[in-house]
Amino acid sequence: MSARTPPAYCDPLTTVAWAALDPDRPWLPDDLVSLAGDPAWDRLTPTARIALSHLEFLALIDLGLWLEAYLLRALGRAAPVARHLGADAYAAQLHELREEAGHSLMFLEILRRAPHTLPPVPRPRLVTAGARLLPGSSGLFWGAVLIGETVAVELNRRIRESDAIPDAIRQIADIHLRDEARHVAYARHRVAEAISQRPHPLGAAALRLLAGRFLATCFHPPPALYQAAGLPSALAATARVNPIRNALAASCLAPAGRYLGRFGLRL
Ligand SMILES: [Fe+2]
Ligand SMILES: [Fe+2]
Repeated sequence: MSARTPPAYCDPLTTVAWAALDPDRPWLPDDLVSLAGDPAWDRLTPTARIALSHLEFLALIDLGLWLEAYLLRALGRAAPVARHLGADAYAAQLHELREEAGHSLMFLEILRRAPHTLPPVPRPRLVTAGARLLPGSSGLFWGAVLIGETVAVELNRRIRESDAIPDAIRQIADIHLRDEARHVAYARHRVAEAISQRPHPLGAAALRLLAGRFLATCFHPPPALYQAAGLPSALAATARVNPIRNALAASCLAPAGRYLGRFGLRL
């Protein structure tokens, strides 16, 4: 890596205007809610739409907490090795550790202040196994990180553009977007470095599977989430076949797919 100016650190806990986390407004724009575009959405009351937007936002936050815990562990474990990669590479990992810890603290604070309790969300076993077992120096690990962080960037970009959400949600999306955009650049660098050293013949298939399970968890809430919003659990099945939802998932994955495709890793 080339020498660069260190990014200014933004502590989410002291930056976010927590009092502006207005529970009477939606926490996701309508087009980012799982039923967007489906006739079922048109039939919901304004109160049910807001409750669903809160719970779906909280589900994304909870997913972020889960994945960031594994990322923090992997970055921590890799720290002694990263030190030997040079000061810039080590500094990049330490910045990422600090920023991910800040995101997770921010996510905990959102869950603490939320007007709803998120029901337990099942985690795909394959993604859990990948997060636990992939070596933190492998191309596959950084490819998986790139997929997760790219989807985070794309979703936060769309959230940030909305006028419907409270200011605090926009700030949260803005902080996460700016940090994750840097992390995506670092993950791309690590993918390029690892894959040019050790191309993995099964990498494409493994990453494709991981990406599919991750997208399903990220974009298709479980039946219990609709119940928690006071809605029929059958709406989970409606959202699963919602073409607008599936197009959103594909477009959020696309930048990672284009980059990984350069290395023969087609998602
Ligand atoms: Fe993060
Ligand atoms: Fe990140």
